[in-house]
This record gives sequence, C-alpha cells and structure tokens, in this order.
Amino acid sequence: MLRFLSFILSFLIGCQLYAETVIDLPKPRQKSSVSLEETLTKRRSVREFSSETLTLQEISQLLWSAQGITEPAGGRTAPSAGALYPLKVYLVAGGVKNLAPGVYRYDPFKHQIIKIKDGDLRGLLSEASLWQPWVRNAPVSFVITAVYEITTKKYGERGVRYVHIEVGHVAQNMLLQAVALDLGAVPVGAFYDSEVRKILGVGDKEQPLYIIPVGKKR
Ligand SMILES: Cc1cc2nc3c(=O)[nH]c(=O)nc-3n(C[C@H](O)[C@H](O)[C@H](O)COP(=O)(O)O)c2cc1C
Repeated sequence: MLRFLSFILSFLIGCQLYAETVIDLPKPRQKSSVSLEETLTKRRSVREFSSETLTLQEISQLLWSAQGITEPAGGRTAPSAGALYPLKVYLVAGGVKNLAPGVYRYDPFKHQIIKIKDGDLRGLLSEASLWQPWVRNAPVSFVITAVYEITTKKYGERGVRYVHIEVGHVAQNMLLQAVALDLGAVPVGAFYDSEVRKILGVGDKEQPLYIIPVGKKR
C-alpha cells in the first residue's frame, strides 16, 4: 500500500515538473486605423525603450504578424518557399503584463506560446548580442530561428537562400506591425549563434537568424 502511494505521489510530482505552461494568446485584430503607407513612412529602428510593460494583446499581434495563419489551408502572414515554413519565433520576455519572465516558443497553429525556460534572460541575450543595451532594456525580444533542412530537403542548397529571404519577410512584418501598435523595434543581426542557441535551448540544426527587441518608445 505504502509503495503504491509513493508511486502515485512521484507520478503526480513528475506531472507537475514536466507540465508545459501553455498560454492562449488573445485574438489578434485584423483591422487598424493606421494605414500600411503610414507604417512604411514611420518605420525607423528604435533603440531606446521606456520601462513600461507590453500587453499580451501586443505580443499576440506581433506574433500573428510574424507567422499567423490566415486561411484554413494554412497560408500565413509571410510567404514561404514551397509553403514549407522553416522558421520559428521565440519570445524572450521580462516585461510583459500578466506573463512570467521566461523564454517562450510561438505555436502559430494554436496561437499559443509555450514556456520553455523560466526567468528573465534578457541580460544573457544582450551579452550574446555583443552587449547591445537595447536587447537588455526592451521588455521583450523576439528571436527568429530557421531549420534549414525543412527547405533544403526540397530545394537543395538554394533552399538556404530561400530561408534567408523568408526571415526578411517575417522581420519586416513585425517591424511594420510594431509601428501600427505605436511601439518601437530594431532588427538585430549581430550575435553569437551558439550563445543564442543556449538561451533558447535549441540544438545545432536550428539557426538563430534575427533578434527583434520591441518596446514602448522613450
Ligand atoms: C540584417 C540587419 C542586421 C542588423 N543588425 C543590427 C544590430 O545588430 N544592431 C542594431 O542596433 N541594428 C541593426 N540593424 C539595424 C540597422 O542598423 C538599421 O536598419 C539602419 O541603420 C537603417 O536605419 P533604420 O532602420 O532606422 O531605417 C540591422 C539591420 C539589418 C537589415
């Protein structure tokens, strides 16, 4: 009996330890009073952020702009060679209202974020980005990674080019979406790949390509 109880107890503790924290994001809006032309005119790299937190609504909108699914057949906000979608988007969060600091992965199918690490890792991400202060000071940074193999399996070496083109589409979507939300953002390409991989907890097959710190402008 005692053995049975201890088995149940360890099972329950195990469940607790390995239970994923999954957060349903609020529905993104699909209309805005800001025109595309206005976002294009106003887009500038912003590197100074206020200490104000972002909301889950803003995070939802930014992730949707990056990889949101916009039709039942699976089409997304950004194009992808062969509709293979080799990119993933992560969130390194420290200043989001009602969201515990941590690293999260975006699931575009369920419009959810899944916590993969606890704690505020913005300082480490800044160090990995050659100590760029805006990476530490922004309430969140989005990290876009690629699994090249998904695209090169079909297109061979040319697939590498396609993946690099795609990350530009995704990043520009996010930068323009940030403007429409009256937020500031900067695309960051200078970082140590292996350090960023460690922060995200991903292996060699996944290549970090872009970091996009976002926050309220100061
Ligand atoms: C591929 C790429 C990499 C970049 N990397 C960085 C970076 O590591 N740090 C940074 O502060 N800005 C970075 N930028 C932003 C550029 O410095 C910025 O876009 C440029 O100065 C033009 O200014 P604007 O974005 O305000 O038009 C990068 C931009 C691109 C396109």
